[in-house]
Amino acid sequence: MNPSRKPLIAANWKMYKTVAEAVSFIKSIQEETGPCADLEVVIAPPFTALKAVGDNLTQQGFSLAAQNCHWEEKGAFTGEVSPIMLSDLGCNYVIVGHSERRQLFGETDETVRRKAAAVLAAGMVPVVCVGEVLEQREQGKTFEVVGRQVEGALSGLSARQAELLVIAYEPVWAIGTGRTATAAQAQEVHALIRKTLAALFNKEVEKKGRILYGGSVKPDNIDLLMAEPDIDGVLVGGASLEVGSFKRLVQFKS
Ligand code: 13P
Repeated sequence: MNPSRKPLIAANWKMYKTVAEAVSFIKSIQEETGPCADLEVVIAPPFTALKAVGDNLTQQGFSLAAQNCHWEEKGAFTGEVSPIMLSDLGCNYVIVGHSERRQLFGETDETVRRKAAAVLAAGMVPVVCVGEVLEQREQGKTFEVVGRQVEGALSGLSARQAELLVIAYEPVWAIGTGRTATAAQAQEVHALIRKTLAALFNKEVEKKGRILYGGSVKPDNIDLLMAEPDIDGVLVGGASLEVGSFKRLVQFKS
């Protein structure tokens, strides 16, 4: 991390937790950590628990995120949820382009771009996920793939919008596998993303843009990851589901 950027620890609960489980977790974690003045803790529960979690987020530093949205404000899109609806529920962030959505639900760089723009237009911050699959890494294509995903998702945005946006680098081979990228591997790609931000926008975006790492982040590897200069936070699946492990992540040591 770099002290000029506020660290962000985000929990992506994916399709886990009922409303009662979510509320119980939120109450416990806030009690355990107390106020978080120097970092942001973002919780992304399933849609069904957004309202209840939002209503119970009272501790300083905690905020609410959704895991996905549609790009239109409203319309005949059965089963979809619009950015305006999420903002109305108190969301500050929306995750877009998670690899599970790209792989299982047909999302493309173009739909991710539309969603990111729509989230910004609704006054929230998109967390844009990018990352290569194992085969691409083994073929030496990581930079090419990640660079293309970043460019695709951010094209058409103003520098001001790009500065606000958060990018999450999640190598697909590290998600849910217990196989984390080493801190050095993650840092290398984060530095590339930062350079891409400079090339697409300007030095200000390069300096201010926050880039998270995701993929098997656990209590035993977070400190090393957060020690890297271009890693500004983490996006966590499995280890965000238990209060004990998530508390340790929030209380990372840098
Ligand atoms: P895991 O932390 O379970 O590997 O999941 C990472 C992720 O997909 C966060 O969005």
